[in-house]
Amino acid sequence: MTRDVAGIGLGLRHDLATELLERHPKSVAWVEIHPENYIDRGGRYQEMLELAREDWPVVTHGLSTCLGSVEPFDASYLKELGAFLKDLEIPWHSEHLCLGGVDDRFFHDLLPLPFTDEAAQIASKRLTEVRDAIGIPLALENVSYYAPQGPDGLAEADFVVEVLERADAKLLLDVNNIYVNGRNFDFDPKAYIDRIPAERVVQIHVAGHFVRDDGVRIDTHGEPVPNEVYELLDYALRKVGPVPVLLERDNNVPPLDELLSEVDELWKIYRNATWADDAG
Ligand SMILES: [Fe+2]
Repeated sequence: MTRDVAGIGLGLRHDLATELLERHPKSVAWVEIHPENYIDRGGRYQEMLELAREDWPVVTHGLSTCLGSVEPFDASYLKELGAFLKDLEIPWHSEHLCLGGVDDRFFHDLLPLPFTDEAAQIASKRLTEVRDAIGIPLALENVSYYAPQGPDGLAEADFVVEVLERADAKLLLDVNNIYVNGRNFDFDPKAYIDRIPAERVVQIHVAGHFVRDDGVRIDTHGEPVPNEVYELLDYALRKVGPVPVLLERDNNVPPLDELLSEVDELWKIYRNATWADDAG
């Protein structure tokens, strides 16, 4: 039976997993995993996943099934992914709205799509294909990018909405990515969130980012969450209601207590924003 995912979650990343599983902090309400780290892998990984499932609801977030690439998916991988997700009994799965490779080369990076009608058409078709293969709801995640778009494309928020509506899909709203893109490409992150259909949002990601000397912001998941991203989270939660929020930290991972103080801050924002929502 699917377990409820609510409140603040943390990624079950390898650097943290042993301590997280031993301490089982009460403030962590659920965990997120990358299926690529577990499929076809037994041993310690399988053991950690089983321990995590005893304590928490688990949600999955894929890294390799990029929705905007043009080459056919690996059908056998999609089958394996579907079986893995079914076994976990999770409420939804998410993948990135990006390009992951070309000519059989995988870049291990989330490359941006052109925000065009053609790209929206391709991505929505692929999203439907993955969703059919896994048999559960699929959310796309908005990504960060650093190359300017051509002059004829859509605004980023319009592009994301176009794909969501064509595919009738869910959204994993990454507020740090919106903030980073907004600062790098001079748009208002709150106007972006206003454009998003609230009822499609099933999950939120929050993270920190690196600010280069020239002011460019890089989505590293390697810094504490800055105040501006906390503020944008508050804004988003007031719009979309109490959807689960994940703290992403993949690099420069600090001691667990430091992350737990960020989790506490997220709870404060979550409770305030969603009470306000309830009251409104
Ligand atoms: Fe994210």
